Amino acid sequence: MTDTRPLLFFDSGVGGLSVLAATQKLLPNAPIVYAADSAGYPYGTKSEAEIAARVPALLGRLVERYRPRLVVIACNTASTIALAHVRSALDLPVVGTVPAIKPAALLSKSRAIGVLGTDATIRQPYVDRLAAEFAGDCLVLRHGSAELVDLAEAKLRGEATDPAAYARILEGLTDQPGGERIDTVVLACTHFRLVEPELSAAWPIAYVDGAEGIARRIAFLTDKQEWPTAPGPGVAVFTGTDSGIDTLRPALARFGLTEIARL
Ligand code: DGL
Repeated sequence: MTDTRPLLFFDSGVGGLSVLAATQKLLPNAPIVYAADSAGYPYGTKSEAEIAARVPALLGRLVERYRPRLVVIACNTASTIALAHVRSALDLPVVGTVPAIKPAALLSKSRAIGVLGTDATIRQPYVDRLAAEFAGDCLVLRHGSAELVDLAEAKLRGEATDPAAYARILEGLTDQPGGERIDTVVLACTHFRLVEPELSAAWPIAYVDGAEGIARRIAFLTDKQEWPTAPGPGVAVFTGTDSGIDTLRPALARFGLTEIARL
């Protein structure tokens, strides 16, 4: 019998689609459930306590409903705060998304790295540890932007966004002392990869994120497992009742997510 258990992706919104895209390149037939906590969006302006309570509870319900083979927390904010709680609460493999400081440090020639994330992510001790362990000889400057998360959501809803906004957000890095030396920026929020072309247009330097690494990790953890022989319709499940979800349908369909559900 074919193993039809899905991979369950989780984010506050559409950001995790950047991780899903990388995964679909390696595992094109993987059944997908993409969960967006639209009722809890955005995460980046929430407290650690709120995220730590909300994410494991929601994932518990999602796992019960969809019985996935593996869970991907496709959100840096949720992962840097709640990954350990989720792992201890769930009895299946859980892959997290944490800022790609290690690959950025390997790439940077100027030894100055920018970390662009949500406000909640950039203040996490998890990020301090990654910077100390992998970029100890680099200047690591951080900037949090809730506006950039909203811009990515707007882009996926087909709305036009203002190019000047991206340049202004990047100044949050370059205006810091030493910021002019930055040659590599970590996109430490999964939403930001979705607006990488706009960021590159505003400031053409190297942007790094963890999507491909996560995809390889998922492929490794599911090695030897069976997959359907063709891709089936993916499910996008939302926690909110927001009617605006309809405006996302075309973008979701590009990732094979043609069934919409509510939690
Ligand atoms: N996409 C998420 C992240 O990676 C969270 C964005 C938000 O809800 O603020 O951090």
